[in-house]
Amino acid sequence: MFIFNTISETQQYLKAQQRAGKTIGFVPTMGALHAGHISLIERAKTENDLAVCSIFVNPTQFNNPDDLKKYPRTLERDCEMLLPMGCDIVFAPSAEEMYPSLPQLKMDFGTLETVMEGKFRPGHFNGVGIVVSKLFNIVKPDKAYFGLKDLQQVAVIRRMVQELSFDLEIIPCLTLRETDGLAMSSRNTRLSSEARALAPQIYKALNLAKEKLQNGVSVIEMQAAVNEYFAHNPEFERADFRMEYFEAADFDTLLPIEAKIADGKTALCIAAFLGGVRLIDNIVF
Ligand code: PAF
Repeated sequence: MFIFNTISETQQYLKAQQRAGKTIGFVPTMGALHAGHISLIERAKTENDLAVCSIFVNPTQFNNPDDLKKYPRTLERDCEMLLPMGCDIVFAPSAEEMYPSLPQLKMDFGTLETVMEGKFRPGHFNGVGIVVSKLFNIVKPDKAYFGLKDLQQVAVIRRMVQELSFDLEIIPCLTLRETDGLAMSSRNTRLSSEARALAPQIYKALNLAKEKLQNGVSVIEMQAAVNEYFAHNPEFERADFRMEYFEAADFDTLLPIEAKIADGKTALCIAAFLGGVRLIDNIVF
């Protein structure tokens, strides 16, 4: 497994591989790898000749400087996890390598980013769009693998790939969960043991809401039930566990479903703070 820190050595190596007819599967990450990332690498390796993983905590997608500072950075451990999985190349650039100067380009994803993550993290998807475009241009993958825990990110990247004619296939992959239902996330390592014990309530709330909608309860009533679930709970208050948003959205447009469940697929999406750690999750049905 090669570990490259510069764009030029990564491009030089991968260009030669592509000239030799090798296909490239790419998993972009911000490191602090867990079993969810590893499953993407395994899939990339199965479906392509080479698996490439990028590890870069991208500063331009963080709208909260404290969140950026606290984001776990575990490069050595990440590489130790990638090696036995057959990962061929790790691209781990510095911020200076990726951004010799701050990008002036702005990406606007329209209504895909006026809701949920885009609404609560202004500028986030601009940062994601730019870094992912740069990574695609550096790695030139045939297929790129993204976890569906970041459902809105997948929608934004798909739109970008389609509108900018990137020559690659986006492969959305199912969210991996711990046995108690908590969606795997690099941020989980920042949870205190008290917070970790409460974290599966996020998935419980999603399932409660799904059950209500499937039993014919209106979206407004469902939202009231979810608000009630999070309100007036002394245990939640002690752990500073509070919901930021809970949306029923149309799976394709991500626009909120206000009155009743649409005919197509519905996504229930949540963001919550738990002891100062921001977690997101969703279920689709
Ligand atoms: O999902 C992530 O880890 C990041 O948003 C990504 C796609 C690696 C871009 O920095």
